[in-house]
Amino acid sequence: MEKKPKCNIILIGFMGSGKTSVGKRLAKKLSCSFQDTDQLIEEKSGITIKHMFETKGEEYFREYETNLLRELKANLKNTVLSTGGGMPLREQNAELLKQLGHVIYLKVQADTVLKRLEDDLSRPLLQQGDRRMRIEQLLTERAPRYERAAYHIVETDGKSVDEIIDDIIQICIF
Ligand code: S3P
Repeated sequence: MEKKPKCNIILIGFMGSGKTSVGKRLAKKLSCSFQDTDQLIEEKSGITIKHMFETKGEEYFREYETNLLRELKANLKNTVLSTGGGMPLREQNAELLKQLGHVIYLKVQADTVLKRLEDDLSRPLLQQGDRRMRIEQLLTERAPRYERAAYHIVETDGKSVDEIIDDIIQICIF
């Protein structure tokens, strides 16, 4: 029987770092709720994120992310929250996330992202230009910000979902 975390677990990190698959299974293991900010935004807006980027632009989506965090702050409890890859990049979002719970950065290398998202068409930020270069560029820009936004870093390359979950549980519960 796993012990429950004292508060929420917030997963941040790059696209393809496993936030959603790890988050879902972690929540099940801890008998917590699971929420995913991308999914919540799609439900609230009634359109896909891809469509939102295309019709309203990235800034509109970023405002949606910030507003959603403000709403979640009021009533998030015993929840594993998986966030969109750009969520912690705004300073105010990073602050809000830290108030919500244990912020864990799932760190991933460009090669792993490239393999995992090889055929993916749903991420607007990866649709332009050479995909490897784009991933490397974004990862380099974002890594320091992910590190600043997190309380803990979990390396994910070469690990199974269960191994990643065990690392997170060690951090959050013991
Ligand atoms: C984004 C990551 C995506 C989604 C949107 C923007 C980003 O979420 O929020 O396409 O800026 O890194 P995932 O990290 O779940 O792919």
